[in-house]
Amino acid sequence: MNEPTKPSEQRPEHPDFWCKRFGEGVTPWDAGRVQGDFASFVAARTQPLNTLIPGCGSAWEASHLADHRWPVTALDFSPTAVACAREVLADQAVDLVCADFFAWQPAQALDLIYERAFLCALPRKLWADWGKRVAELLPPGGLLAGYFFVCDQLKGPPFGILPEQLDALLLPNFECLTDQPVADSIPVFAGRERWQVWRRRG
Ligand SMILES: C[S@@+](CC[C@H](N)C(=O)[O-])C[C@H]1O[C@@H](n2cnc3c(N)ncnc32)[C@H](O)[C@@H]1O
Repeated sequence: MNEPTKPSEQRPEHPDFWCKRFGEGVTPWDAGRVQGDFASFVAARTQPLNTLIPGCGSAWEASHLADHRWPVTALDFSPTAVACAREVLADQAVDLVCADFFAWQPAQALDLIYERAFLCALPRKLWADWGKRVAELLPPGGLLAGYFFVCDQLKGPPFGILPEQLDALLLPNFECLTDQPVADSIPVFAGRERWQVWRRRG
């Protein structure tokens, strides 16, 4: 017999789950700032990268990229999250989109997909689709960079991913350029977060 379906606000694959949390101000994943490895990554680039931030939430990083004049699309499927991002971004030059990552299409080729607390927000049944989608969206040489919640935490979100599970998702299409511990994690991710940079193979 099929299990009864939970209400939409208890299912993280549904925008209502996130709207409820943003609406109530219960956002323990929200750093309220840009983390150091990302800031260093941006500072080290000599050219702006056309960047997608899927599941952008409050969009602190999009604001940072706009400050550096990088073209950036901040995307979230929760209208309440998008409203929070709009407040953070005010009149900054960011393409802020309310859309589902799995259906959205870029108008121009992407150079970078930035990851933070998005993959770990997705139920595990969506992980294979995430791996396919990041590979589809990036041309050869394109980068996937960000923070990954690497641990064995089963219950989520955040859903922990094991190194071998992440490799299975990405190694068919990407090579890993950087994988290092994170010094400035917020409490929910502390000690279990890795800064990683992956490059799309040709
Ligand atoms: C844990 S929050 C992280 C927000 C932000 N990245 C941060 O670091 O603060 C996950 C976000 O992903 C969004 N999200 C989940 N599934 C999505 C999907 N399929 N398409 C677009 N956004 C999605 C949620 O609405 C939520 O804002």
